[in-house]
Amino acid sequence: PSAGNRPPLKVLLCAPRGFCAGVDRAVQIVELALERFGAPVYVRHEIVHNKFVVESLKTKGAVFVEELDEIPDGHHDRPVVFSAHGVPKSVPEDARSRNMFYLDATCPLVSKVHKEAEIHFRRGREIVLIGHAGHPEVIGTMGQLPEGAVRLVETVEDARAFEPAGDRPLAWITQTTLSVDDTAQIVEVLTARFPDIVAPHKDDICYATTNRQEAVKAVAPDVEALIVVGAPNSSNSQRLREVAERAGCPVALLVQRAADIPWDALPPLTSLGITAGASAPEVLVEEIIAAFAERYEVTVDSVRTAEETISFNLPRALREAAE
Ligand code: F3S
Repeated sequence: PSAGNRPPLKVLLCAPRGFCAGVDRAVQIVELALERFGAPVYVRHEIVHNKFVVESLKTKGAVFVEELDEIPDGHHDRPVVFSAHGVPKSVPEDARSRNMFYLDATCPLVSKVHKEAEIHFRRGREIVLIGHAGHPEVIGTMGQLPEGAVRLVETVEDARAFEPAGDRPLAWITQTTLSVDDTAQIVEVLTARFPDIVAPHKDDICYATTNRQEAVKAVAPDVEALIVVGAPNSSNSQRLREVAERAGCPVALLVQRAADIPWDALPPLTSLGITAGASAPEVLVEEIIAAFAERYEVTVDSVRTAEETISFNLPRALREAAE
């Protein structure tokens, strides 16, 4: 339709949204490894949970594997990058025993949780990890310590039913990409039941997760629908969709690409919120806006609830390459 007869649509862009410092660093590690060492560079697991990012790194020569034993024998001298989510201790051990050259793209804020877990363990505490079963970050965090040392609690019900294995003191830690509100409820139950449980300073939910959820809360009540640009296996993106729904937004959708927008499921809109998970690049947000601009006369405003200035150092092996 010509601009004249397109209905108006007010788009509110949540800010901050999209790439966090840990994702940015992880993607840079793969890119710099390719520049410095040439292709192929192996990457264990999706470097970050976004198909678009993974596909574009593949075209530059990255090869994605789920486990180290998928790397052909003749390629053990090629760099292998561990994903931003972190890995169990067994993975770097395995890489060393095979004489592999690895670069660890684990987000420093995930490594920080790994260290907390180790400290609790050394002090003889039983560790409760609040997180989602099966997520690579949870597998990585649990895998820092011997089997049974870290016990997973996923829900308020789990927290109510949790029974300590012995009479060791308890401590809790969390996955970095959880719902801030759900986590607070789980912590409340744990603290009520076990008043002496040792807690982190606040929780282990990272600044990026917290800020993206806050921005969605600010926008969601003012829009008829909210789109989260992100992948279904991205924990923080899923949480953003839930936050929008709970904040009263009638339609909250997780969408990977413009081609996936379920136009039939969308009512005619006059307002729309857009955010992006921490692993979704801004080009995908632009693509979604462009798709709406074909159907609506779009005006875009940004709603900013926090400034982010944090960035992380690259691994030493790559620092010179970046200069
Ligand atoms: Fe790190 Fe948080 Fe991003 S833990 S990878 S800064 S979502």
